[in-house]
Order: sequence, then C-alpha cells, then structure tokens
Amino acid sequence: MARGRFISFEGIDGAGKSTQHAWLVDRLRAQGRQVVATREPGGTPLGEKLRSLLLAEPMHLETEALLMFAARREHLVQVIEPALARGDWVVCDRFVDASFAYQGGGRGLEWAKLERLAEWVLGSMRPDLTLIFDAPVAVAQQRLHAASNSPDRFEQEQAEFFERVRAAYLRIARENPLRVRVIDATRSMDSINKELENIVATI
Ligand code: ADP
Ligand code: TYD
Repeated sequence: MARGRFISFEGIDGAGKSTQHAWLVDRLRAQGRQVVATREPGGTPLGEKLRSLLLAEPMHLETEALLMFAARREHLVQVIEPALARGDWVVCDRFVDASFAYQGGGRGLEWAKLERLAEWVLGSMRPDLTLIFDAPVAVAQQRLHAASNSPDRFEQEQAEFFERVRAAYLRIARENPLRVRVIDATRSMDSINKELENIVATI
C-alpha cells in the first residue's frame, strides 16, 4: 500500500484558508480519494479539548506553545500517521508552521525553542505540501469581521500581531521552497480553487 499524501493549510486568520480547505477535501473525495479532513489545534478528542482551552484561556506563551505541540503529538500518533500508512490523504487546516508563525512570529517565542519542540514531537516528519494563504492583514480582518463570529483569543489580537504572523509565514515559505507554496488569497474563490487544483495535481 503506497503511503498517502499530507497537505497542510496555513495563513493568518481571515485569509480564507478554511473555505479552501473544505473545497479541496470535497474535490479530492469527488475524485475518489480517501481523505481525512482534520485541523489543529484539534483533530482528536483530547486535541479538541486542548483547542477549547487554547482559544479561550489566557496563558503564558510557553504554555501555549507546549499545549499546541501536545495536541499535535496526539494528532500525529492517533490520526495522521495511521491515515498515511493506510494510503489515505490527510488534509489538515493548520499544522506545525502555525506554531512558528503564531507563537514564534506573533508572540515572540525563540525560533530555536520551537525547532526543539518540532524535532521532539515530529522528528523530520513534515507535510508533503503546505499551502500558505497570503493576504494583507487589512483584507483578512475585513473578511473576519464580515463573517461576524465572536472572535477567539487569537482573533482578538491587534493588526501588528498579524503583521508579524504573516511575515513569519513568508519567512517559512522562503526557507522551504520545495514544500511550501504561497497562494495570493486576495483573488476570487474560483481562481484560487483552480490554482489549488493545479498545484495538488503535481504532488
Ligand atoms: P480562515 O480560515 O483563513 O480564517 P475563512 O475561510 O473562514 O478564513 O474565511 C473568512 C471569511 O472570508 C469567510 O466569510 C469566507 O466566506 C470569506 N472568504 C474566503 N475566501 C474568500 C475570497 N477568496 N474572497 C472573498 N471572501 C472570502
Ligand atoms: P483556526 O482553526 O484557524 O481558527 P478558526 O476556526 O477560528 O478559523 O485556528 C485557531 C487559532 O489557533 C488560530 O488563530 C491560530 C492558532 N494556532 C496557533 O497559534 N498555533 C498553532 O500551532 C496552531 C495550530 C494554531
């Protein structure tokens, strides 16, 4: 049985990542693939409990990073690795790059500490493909406000926080050109759908 493919979706809040995640999952299933659609933080019963805490409870930034990686370890062992071993595709709304972008870029936690956690929790395991949905902070915030859900602990952050998160994502893209593709998320949903389909056809 050939190992499945692992695709992660990233971007600042409001860029349109979850919309495109749902679209790609449907598209792959329509093509007859077995797809595990999942998300971080979350993806397991324990991970979803940690997600509720992470999105609501104030905490020290290192606690936040450790809980993100604790949820990720559970997700990897219980869901992602077994799915890939079965030959399923795993399409994940956020993964390890979000910790570098948010806890590293946004909150200012040392990159080296995050690298040690990533090494411990994942070893050299990374997605086959990471799509970063990139848009100016003002565009993403406008979309978030138009969607008018009650904002969580991250969505309540100021524009400067998201500027740092965005810059960290773009740094990750520059440092990992083989794995990471940056998608211009300011375009119409249709044109992004087409680009996604073309990129995914190459992996
Ligand atoms: P994210 O998961 O990145 O936080 P969402 O996918 O939830 O973002 O999208 C946030 C809002 O923006 C939603 O209301 C969604 O319908 C809208 N949206 C998503 N993609 C686009 C797009 N390409 N153009 C305009 N609006 C969009
Ligand atoms: P997300 O699912 O994108 O939120 P929503 O459902 O509101 O669109 O992600 C929840 C938040 O968690 C998001 O603001 C980013 C944050 N996050 C981190 O800070 N670090 C991480 O490692 C992960 C996976 C998410």
